[in-house]
Amino acid sequence: MLLWFLLPLILLSRHEAGKIIGGKEARPHSYPYMAYLLIQSPERLSSCGGFLVREDFVMTAAHCWGSSINVTLGAHNIQRRERTQQRITVLRAIRHPDYDPQNIVNDIMLLQLKRRIRQNHVVRPVALPQAGESLKPGTLCTVAGWGRVSLNRRTDVLQEVQLRVQRSQKCSNRFSFYTSQTQICVGNPRERKSAFRGDSGGPLVCNNVAQGIVSYGDTNGIPPAVFTRIESFLPWVKTILRRFKPQRSE
Ligand SMILES: *[C@@H]1O[C@H](CO)[C@@H](O)[C@H](O)[C@H]1NC(C)=O
Repeated sequence: MLLWFLLPLILLSRHEAGKIIGGKEARPHSYPYMAYLLIQSPERLSSCGGFLVREDFVMTAAHCWGSSINVTLGAHNIQRRERTQQRITVLRAIRHPDYDPQNIVNDIMLLQLKRRIRQNHVVRPVALPQAGESLKPGTLCTVAGWGRVSLNRRTDVLQEVQLRVQRSQKCSNRFSFYTSQTQICVGNPRERKSAFRGDSGGPLVCNNVAQGIVSYGDTNGIPPAVFTRIESFLPWVKTILRRFKPQRSE
C-alpha cells in the first residue's frame, strides 16, 4: 500500500508549500508551539511540521530526518517574513534508535536547536503527557499544519482540524504494521477530515497536551491516520533532554 509519508511534500519552488483536509485557517498564533521544518536530504528539499517541547528542542517524526534542517517558530503565513518569526538551525537531529522506516514504527525524532528560542506569547513549548496517562477512544483533539488541503491544493497559512481518537481496530484493519502500543489511530472514517502530506511531524493536541505525532495514512487522505504515541516514548525523550542541557542564549 502506498502511504503518504513515502511522498513527503517536495518543495518544487520557494512557493510550493503544503495543509490539512477538511479543516480551516487557524487564528494566527493560536498554536505557539507549532514549528515549520525545512529539510534538506540527499534526494530533495521537503517540509514537515514539528512542535516546541523545550526552549531548545523541537519534536517531530523520524521520517522527517535530513542532513540539514531549519526550523521556523512564531509563523502563521510561512511564505512571508513575519516579525513574529524566529528561524533557527538544527544543531542535532536525534532519531529514535528503533525507528523502522519499512514498517514505520517508532517514528519520533528530537531536534536540538542551535540556540534557545526567545519565549513570548507567540512562541512557547507545549506540555507532554504524564507517564501512564491513557488516551481514550472518542477524545477530541486538534492537529495543525501547513500540509496539503487536498490532493493538489496547498496553503501558506496554518490550518487546523479537530479529530477524534479511534479504537485501535480501525487502524489495525487498514494498516498491517499498526500497533496500539506505540501508535494512536486518529480520525473518523465517516468524515472527510484528516492530516495529510506535509503535515508529518506535527502534533496531535488533546486538552492542551501533545499526545501524538502525525506519522502516516492513506495515499488519498482518507481517515483514520496513524500517529506516534508520545506517551510510549517518554523515557527516551527524558533521557535525551537530560543528556543535552540547554544551550546558552546567543
Ligand atoms: C538552513 O539555514 C542555513 C543558514 O541560513 C543555510 O545555509 C541552509 O542551507 C539552510 N538549510 C535548509 C534546509 O534550508
